[in-house]
Amino acid sequence: MKALVLAGGSGTRLRPITHTSSKQLVPVANKPILFYGLESIAAAGITDVGVIVGSTAAEIEAAVGDGAAFGLNVTYIPQSEPLGLAHAVLIAEPFLGDDDFVMYLGDNFVLDGITDVVEEFREAPHAAQVLLTRVKNPTAFGVAITDDKGNVLELEEKPAAPRGDLAVAGVYFFKAAVHEAVRAIRPSARGELEITDALQWMIDQGMAVCSTVITGYWKDTGNVTDMLEVNRTLLERLQPSVDGYVDDESEIIGRVRVEAGAEVRRSRIVGPAIIGAGSVVSDSYVGPSTSVAEDCRITHSEIEYSIVLRESSFDHIRRVAASLVGRNVRVTLAPGPPATHRLVIGDHGHVELSS
Ligand code: G1P
Repeated sequence: MKALVLAGGSGTRLRPITHTSSKQLVPVANKPILFYGLESIAAAGITDVGVIVGSTAAEIEAAVGDGAAFGLNVTYIPQSEPLGLAHAVLIAEPFLGDDDFVMYLGDNFVLDGITDVVEEFREAPHAAQVLLTRVKNPTAFGVAITDDKGNVLELEEKPAAPRGDLAVAGVYFFKAAVHEAVRAIRPSARGELEITDALQWMIDQGMAVCSTVITGYWKDTGNVTDMLEVNRTLLERLQPSVDGYVDDESEIIGRVRVEAGAEVRRSRIVGPAIIGAGSVVSDSYVGPSTSVAEDCRITHSEIEYSIVLRESSFDHIRRVAASLVGRNVRVTLAPGPPATHRLVIGDHGHVELSS
């Protein structure tokens, strides 16, 4: 079995972070979201992986390389425009050949991995299998109607009036029959070749499409809220360790990882939290569910339930929460008087001030 990992797309809901960076490389618990998917694929015993890349190809290739670090053999497949998930399958046919494959959306997160379903699909006679999960907002997803054995009867992409709450999660299993399906369908109203339509085409041709309902944790990290939530979930499983320097005046409470080369001085860190290598936290409070990446400076500040990317700094800022902060960002107090907010924010930035 092969894997096809989708790491293109423009990530509009994560702007401005995605103006300069790929959405699949935003770190959760200080590791790019994409890496968790690649690790799950490797753990399931798959080694040949095609990675679909778009405008952020260079950055993805720099991060993933030839895949050897994951025990994978990676082939990059450029997609000139984000024309849909089924379009990705279409252009990947030379790589996939007649092999069975798992298609994994690079911004999706499946906490318990995919090993069990990979094992199941290796033995299965059916043409395709999808992972489903119950959601509160089915209009945001592909929605499946199944019979009581889990056979998919019907699929609808982002239905205005959903007839169920089983959303298609971003992990799909296919036999080679899908190639005929992606050639047969036409672009949807949003101009994309939808994988949902390809699956529906297979059903209409009498092919069996089965499903597995994920009971564990799954998230599509396309927006900030979900990203913070995945970060929190991962930090709750963090193996605590202090490999950096913590002075006697600091307090470390709960699951906290202070990475090698990080420094904590006169501060209070309440886990679960991670302080990245080379970062310095001084005279500050870092609260639960916070990931501070490498080489940051948190000085006389308070931050919780947030993700801070590398080389960013907070100086005399209290209190920041539920925030996603990009790379090389500086947050400082405006010199006064008068007391003003002074903002230099990238395009599509989003700021909520408390006063
Ligand atoms: C895509 C699929 C949708 C699926 C979702 C899962 O949506 O089209 O059927 O439920 O991924 O993340 P998109 O992310 O392209 O809006």
